[in-house]
Amino acid sequence: MQITALISVAALAIGTNAAVIQRQGTDNPRLAQFRVFSDTGCSNLNEGFYTVDQDQSNQCNSFTDSGIPYVSIRLEDLEPAAAGCELILYSDATCLVNATNATLGTCNNAPGEKVGVSAPTWNSWQLVCPTSS
Ligand SMILES: *[C@@H]1O[C@H](CO)[C@@H](O)[C@H](O)[C@H]1NC(C)=O
Ligand SMILES: *[C@@H]1O[C@H](CO)[C@@H](O)[C@H](O)[C@H]1NC(C)=O
Repeated sequence: MQITALISVAALAIGTNAAVIQRQGTDNPRLAQFRVFSDTGCSNLNEGFYTVDQDQSNQCNSFTDSGIPYVSIRLEDLEPAAAGCELILYSDATCLVNATNATLGTCNNAPGEKVGVSAPTWNSWQLVCPTSS
């Protein structure tokens, strides 16, 4: 009984690792890429880019883990597999406030007033895609 339980847990752990290793591929195509900046205007303080694969679509993603303020964001690439998908940016960390449709190639400054040196930031995002049913 004890041994059986242990084996089941081990099998589950292996299954989880396999799912993590199997990332982008034909079953999980790359959909989009966007670039993040810590200044307004999508030019200065380039902090790098995020890629979005299919298994990351239709879920809310917070930026707060990065510890970096993202003040402006540009959607750089939408792959053919992303037909009908929209990158939505939000002011809060839970994909609720100030939903903004980030269209391809345009710079999106986070809405709000700059207070002293603190510019308003984007704090979550979601790639909303048509779901096949
Ligand atoms: C988002 O922008 C795209 C491209 O301009 C447009 O086709 C789409 O309707 C917009 N979606 C919303 C929810 O406004
Ligand atoms: C939402 O946008 C408005 C301006 O349109 C801004 O004043 C407000 O601070 C924003 N909310 C958050 C949580 O940043």
